[in-house]
Amino acid sequence: SDPDPLQDFCIGDTKSELSVNGFPCKPAANVTSDDFFYDGLSKEGNTSNPFGSIVTQANVWAFPGLNTLGISMNRVDIAPGGLNPPHSHPRAAETGVVINGKLLVGFITTGNVFYSKILNPGQMFLIPKGLVHFQKNVGEEKALLFTAFNSHFPGSVVLPMNLFASKPSVPDDVLTKTFQVEKTVIDEIKSKFAA
Ligand code: GLV
Ligand code: MN
Repeated sequence: SDPDPLQDFCIGDTKSELSVNGFPCKPAANVTSDDFFYDGLSKEGNTSNPFGSIVTQANVWAFPGLNTLGISMNRVDIAPGGLNPPHSHPRAAETGVVINGKLLVGFITTGNVFYSKILNPGQMFLIPKGLVHFQKNVGEEKALLFTAFNSHFPGSVVLPMNLFASKPSVPDDVLTKTFQVEKTVIDEIKSKFAA
């Protein structure tokens, strides 16, 4: 849902400041075939982390050829039992296809309705723009999926990090009131995500 481009392409000069709707274009004389191809999603990501999952992004920062085209992709690797935790993309709808493994994919609407399904290889899902969603590996094997977005820079608000690992941190009294729990509970959660 990014704005339409006004030229065929505009390979992003990511060393320049991100401007209103993207990066300035690399001069046409310097553009080569390499600007239109990217192999950053070819390698399996390292899932040794508490969530047991890793998202490898091919957005405009990683793949500057996407600049102004209103599209991008991710690779998501999830270990057995792992979770790509609840998150939302403020600037894009998402679609995805499962390549390997068995995944529970779910999202929650603005009206707090939860939709979900267990997917197998070849099956697809969609996540409406901005809605909170997750993928959980519910199989015995490693899971692999590719996702696509209608923005060159969808952004990702990862809920646990957003609320419990921001800098500076959200005041404890805001979090205790929000979740209706004692400060010890908030301290424990914050400690899990401390840098
Ligand atoms: C999966 O939800 C992703 O954002 O790649
Ligand atoms: Mn997502």
